[in-house]
Amino acid sequence: METPHTEHLSSADFEHVYAPAEDSFLLLDALEADLEFLDTLQPRLCLEIGSGSGVIITALAKRFAHSALCLATDLNPRACDATKRTAIHNATLDSIRCNLADAIRKRSVDLLLFNPPYVVTSDEELQSQLLTDCQTVTGTPATQRHLVHSWAGGRDGRRVTDILLGQLDEILSPNGVLYLLLLRENKPDEIIEQLIQSHFKAVKYMERRIPGEYLYILKVTRSIS
Ligand SMILES: C[S@@+](CC[C@H](N)C(=O)[O-])C[C@H]1O[C@@H](n2cnc3c(N)ncnc32)[C@H](O)[C@@H]1O
Repeated sequence: METPHTEHLSSADFEHVYAPAEDSFLLLDALEADLEFLDTLQPRLCLEIGSGSGVIITALAKRFAHSALCLATDLNPRACDATKRTAIHNATLDSIRCNLADAIRKRSVDLLLFNPPYVVTSDEELQSQLLTDCQTVTGTPATQRHLVHSWAGGRDGRRVTDILLGQLDEILSPNGVLYLLLLRENKPDEIIEQLIQSHFKAVKYMERRIPGEYLYILKVTRSIS
């Protein structure tokens, strides 16, 4: 898959939108490595939750938009705008501002991607960071708050991930697949165990050590698909 052009995004954009980094590229690499499976899956609806700059869903749209509807969601309006601009330069997709997959028809997503806010913070710290940014006196407090949503994950870095996993049965289509980025501190083995209890199959599909972090891509399908 081709990495999309991002020259249209400036450093000013990245003051408000998560800049593609090692984690983003690991997710892209996992999709690239699993293209044979994805070609067999023939996804009709692809969704990236939390698309940020839009590089991942755009790369996917370049490959699958001829046969699939590609959508992106993000809480951050600046990320929705950046995703649209990245797409305009590269591919066809739509970007929706909403929480997780709230705006998407139930059990319809064939290919789901999420690089969540995964950094471990205490819940108090998460709350206070959000409040501090909300209360910034000058500048653009709302968008700074949105940038905190890019990385701050609360206890075990899993506050948002756990909510998504609790909704997975309602989001994925019968043959749907999720590629989820995790950090070692997110306790991937515990997540895999929980998914098995909920009748999913989950494997560590790819892993990579980067400076200061150890990252995984979890591949999740229904156990009877
Ligand atoms: C780590 S960044 C990943 C951005 C992009 N996908 C990438 O890999 O470069 C996480 C993104 O998720 C978004 N986000 C966080 N919580 C969300 C939620 N509940 N619903 C939708 N998007 C969310 C953030 O605004 C941010 O853009």
